Amino acid sequence: MAISESKKTNPLANLLKPLLKRDKAGPRLELLEAMQAGKEVGDKEWQKSGKEHSWLHFTRHSPFSRGDMNIIVRGEGHFIYDSKGTKLIDGLSGLFTCNAGHGRPELAAAAQKQMLELDFMPLWSYGHPRAIELAEKLLSIGPEGMNRIFFTTGGTEGVESAWKIAKQYFKMTGKPLKHKVISRMTAYHGTSHGALSITGIPAFKQMFEPLVPSAFRVPNTNYYRAPQEFANEDEFGIWAANRLEEAILFEGPDTVAAFFVEPIQNAGGCFTATKAYFKRIREICTKYDVVLVADETITGYGRTGEWFGSIRYDIQPDMMITAKAITSGAQPLGALFLKEKFFEPFKDGTSTLAHGYTFGGHPVACAVALANLEIFERENLIERARTNSPIFRKTLERLYDLPIVGDVRGDGYFFAVEIVKDKKTKETLTREESEKLLRGFLNSALLEAGIYCRADDRGDPVIQLAPPLTCGPKEFDEIEAILRKVLTEAWKRLNG
Ligand SMILES: Cc1ncc(COP(=O)(O)O)c(C=O)c1O
Repeated sequence: MAISESKKTNPLANLLKPLLKRDKAGPRLELLEAMQAGKEVGDKEWQKSGKEHSWLHFTRHSPFSRGDMNIIVRGEGHFIYDSKGTKLIDGLSGLFTCNAGHGRPELAAAAQKQMLELDFMPLWSYGHPRAIELAEKLLSIGPEGMNRIFFTTGGTEGVESAWKIAKQYFKMTGKPLKHKVISRMTAYHGTSHGALSITGIPAFKQMFEPLVPSAFRVPNTNYYRAPQEFANEDEFGIWAANRLEEAILFEGPDTVAAFFVEPIQNAGGCFTATKAYFKRIREICTKYDVVLVADETITGYGRTGEWFGSIRYDIQPDMMITAKAITSGAQPLGALFLKEKFFEPFKDGTSTLAHGYTFGGHPVACAVALANLEIFERENLIERARTNSPIFRKTLERLYDLPIVGDVRGDGYFFAVEIVKDKKTKETLTREESEKLLRGFLNSALLEAGIYCRADDRGDPVIQLAPPLTCGPKEFDEIEAILRKVLTEAWKRLNG
């Protein structure tokens, strides 16, 4: 990338001038002053201001006292560029969002057109054409049996909405005690109080306890670390599914409203499950009238090689949460798919769902989503992911010759490489080793080697990969070569 990329005069400088006049006490806002003065700003100014005034999400800020933040300035295709001019493969599609790649002119055009036609109307008491059109489009590609779309701005809101709708539905249909939720160990379902209660990662919750009561956990489908021997993955899946039945019975079926499950669990590192697992949880949810909610915040829109994981694994959910890649990340939007039965009690009389979000189903986001789904269809991105997935898997499996690689798992364009100390015993890293290796080395080494992806230890340590669906065998080879180099060095450090 040319150096000029990171040193541009802000074209809005003149427009901003009147807004930047400051007459109150407070910190000196040097970046704004520079912009106001029409000076060029770039990495140096962003670093200083970013460190002094910004608060990054899920980010430890202490390293910024010694080194720089990573500031990403541009995205194009399956590459992103940082403020120092480094080009990186986007191995995580932003955050499992940019499935059609970055910088799509069609999405920009759709946004501009919509902004000029109707820049904003909420879905509070009013409809607007793009949301209505998008709802039908989504139902046409969604799993069978869905008939309603409730729009949100992201995954957390989808999780909150699903739980609240399930609660109200049961209150209105003669089962008022049904309010509890069950989800899976180590699963991430978002950060608001309700969604965080459903999240199964204790470390994320501790600081915010007490959370919403009535949320319980069952085992996930981590076959690599199954608690006992099973003849095969189907048998393990049935065992794991039966834990759901057990939990429902422990709590009392009359009190359990919903079970939340990701088609492939992200946190912990791409825990897949066979169809036998999903068939069994479907049976259990039907038996006890528990709403089966598929959280497809990550797996939706092609990630698994189908439009939705629910279709790929025949999950037959009652509700399905989607977000992120619905717009390929170009706009914040989420869509909760529902069976019509949840809407039935609201059809007549005065009943209302007292729930919503100002920006849920924003017209610009909906227009971008429609354009995004058109790209998927025009470029056969779903089929591409399905066809290329076995090649991606095989390419990553080459890493098995490294002593540090314990497991390679996933599906579609969504894989995790689990790091171990001992391949034979599957011994994992201690907390201290994980801290040293992941935060002290891997994350920065991966970036330096040319890839943005994630070394994660919310469960056992893994490197997570979810590149845009536009990638192919050439990029898989590049990703493998980078991982090989970095993991070879990681092994030396672990044993050094
Ligand atoms: C499965 C799942 N649910 C919910 C969320 C929360 O989504 P958001 O960050 O859009 O609120 C995420 C985020 O990654 C997720 O992976």
